[in-house]
Amino acid sequence: MKNIKQESINPDPSEKRKEVKKKLRKLEGLPTLPPIIQRLNQMIEDERTSLHQIAEIIEKDQVITTKILRLANSAFYGFPRKVSTVQQAMMLLGLNVLKILIMTSSIFEFIHKEDIGLWEHSIGVAACSKIIAEKIGAGDSQEIATAGLLHDLGRVIIMVVLKEDQPKILDLISEGVDPLSAEKRVLGIDHAEIGAFLMAQWNLPERLIEAVASHHNLENSKKYRKEASILHLSDLLVHARGYGKTLYESLPPFEVRALKYLGLGWGEIKEILFNLEPRLYELKFFTEELKKELSS
Ligand SMILES: [Fe+2]
Ligand SMILES: [Fe+2]
Repeated sequence: MKNIKQESINPDPSEKRKEVKKKLRKLEGLPTLPPIIQRLNQMIEDERTSLHQIAEIIEKDQVITTKILRLANSAFYGFPRKVSTVQQAMMLLGLNVLKILIMTSSIFEFIHKEDIGLWEHSIGVAACSKIIAEKIGAGDSQEIATAGLLHDLGRVIIMVVLKEDQPKILDLISEGVDPLSAEKRVLGIDHAEIGAFLMAQWNLPERLIEAVASHHNLENSKKYRKEASILHLSDLLVHARGYGKTLYESLPPFEVRALKYLGLGWGEIKEILFNLEPRLYELKFFTEELKKELSS
């Protein structure tokens, strides 16, 4: 590809990869992770802590409470009744999901401030992942929805932590290089691996980490190929539906074998799309509300 700007291509991606991982290792949480979140995280890890104690601490913090309730009530979890207390959110979502929501609440804030399209894309994929998980009976669909929400976490990290490299990646993509190869050429690592690396540092469940790590490369998954395939298919469907326009114009290639791993045929895909449509409609209201709040 003769048109590609030479300065976009890293002469030694493996050196850059080491440098990127070093930066990520230093990121204990996100740069803005408040101390209360760190304390909560310790409490959640400690088996002696009761749910009641955790809820009490959270409820003292208005900002975190609002974020948790807002996320629990958003259409991607699709609860029929309104979730009005932290205790309820904990019962409905489970501790794992709650922990992820707490730890990533600052990321969510960042995504919709910086790139509303990526935020919309992420919650669209969360909603679609939940529908597919329920359709095939893949167990804990809440957790899979959360994996959907986090699937492009690596892209957020590139935007926040590696922002000086982002224009080079976008340059390559505009020259026709596919997004994953562009990231690898510039950073020596792609967004799927970056997201999973960070999730592992946060001690999130292996099921979520592996699904995120292999959402663009199903052969990378060992134990959780179904979960990875759910994210892979949801990514395609939400993209095809044109929901959430992100900075990357093209999607990495679709692996048709995902359908085989999930036991789905095209007839069922149509049904999934049919169920997805009203969810996306509700989500659009949710993100529009957020946009208004952020701009006021
Ligand atoms: Fe992705
Ligand atoms: Fe995606």
